[in-house]
Amino acid sequence: MIPFSPPRIDQKIVDSVAEALTSGWITTGPRTKHFEQQLTAYGGHQATLCVSSASAGLELVLRWFGVGPGDEVIIPAYTYAATANVVVHCGAMPVMVDSGNDFNISVEAIGKAVTPRTKVIMPVDLGGYPCDYDQINALLSSPEMVNQFTAQTQEQSKLGRILVLSDAAHSIGAIMNEKRTGSLCDITVYSFHAVKNLTTAEGGAICLNLPHPFDNQMVYSVLNTKSLHGQNKDALAKTQIGNWKYDIVEAGYKCNMTDLQAAIGLVELARYEDDNLVRRRQIFDAYAAAFSNDDRFLVPEYRTSSKTTSYHVFLLRLARATEELRDAFVASVFSKGVAVNVHFRPLPMMTFYRNMGFSIAQFPVAYSNYCREISLPVYFDLTDDQVARVVEVVREVANELL
Ligand SMILES: Cc1ncc(COP(=O)(O)O)c(C=O)c1O
Repeated sequence: MIPFSPPRIDQKIVDSVAEALTSGWITTGPRTKHFEQQLTAYGGHQATLCVSSASAGLELVLRWFGVGPGDEVIIPAYTYAATANVVVHCGAMPVMVDSGNDFNISVEAIGKAVTPRTKVIMPVDLGGYPCDYDQINALLSSPEMVNQFTAQTQEQSKLGRILVLSDAAHSIGAIMNEKRTGSLCDITVYSFHAVKNLTTAEGGAICLNLPHPFDNQMVYSVLNTKSLHGQNKDALAKTQIGNWKYDIVEAGYKCNMTDLQAAIGLVELARYEDDNLVRRRQIFDAYAAAFSNDDRFLVPEYRTSSKTTSYHVFLLRLARATEELRDAFVASVFSKGVAVNVHFRPLPMMTFYRNMGFSIAQFPVAYSNYCREISLPVYFDLTDDQVARVVEVVREVANELL
């Protein structure tokens, strides 16, 4: 079986983790802080806080911004549950909107969904392809949007408009107008989950890029404290002589990254651009070349003059399939020894969100994209022979079913 997305675990990773294990410091410490600095330099934003997952990072930011009951957060219907669940955890209402042909949130739909209760917009870079941040930022800074924004906390007053919080779980390293994700909007959250381009087994990072008058270092400190039970000194600081006494300044959370995770992340990040992304790009290009001249398929948009994907998920679509036919297609590809996937079943189709009153009928583009989607394997260790086999199997199944 050709697997879908195994992590890249080689001797370098094993050695790095072993060094951390024997260093005498295994929780948040020097490796995590170093990883944060490297991520800040890579993304081109102002400061980075590493956390235990992207979900934790997104929720921490929502809570920092004061999102709670009575508030609305605009998200795409076409995403993974984490994007919506964190809004629900805060007691706020996720407001779902439809997507475009590129799988990403429709900016026009965002404009129509904004109300005086909207506090945050969470665009998701599906499969690693960046959303239209220029358009989203311009929309939210327009006088009409600024005028209806109702600030209820200090942070909300300071920003004076809706916060753009990018769910960049898929898109570390993606580029728009020569800037990487991290520096495309106010706050960006990466995921380092096991299947992601850059993994730390589990993990995430909050990339701060807030405009004046915010002090991003200060916000880093506030979020860091929030990620550690509201404790005003971390474990490493407390080990310094005479520095044992700490205070609890709020009832915070517990979602810090450990140095074992950072030990993986440091190796992954050092070889991300020149190695990992290069290979992923070759695989995307090979799939695009194989399927772009075959009218039974639609190849996803992944590189234009202004945008470049992070080559995370290759979102192939069957041009004319129904959901049932696509499901049969996926089953048949699997039965021939190739693991494929579907990203994603839109949230209005999930029991919890259906029970909240969402209906997929309101999101025709998301539904049509989902019905026809089939994600092909992409990862560093996938060989050229395996890529050729994936293409061969997909074509075989297309000849049988389409
Ligand atoms: C779009 C999206 N957002 C958020 C997440 C959550 O990431 P994590 O598992 O690091 O919490 C995922 C994870 O798959 C995702 O796909």
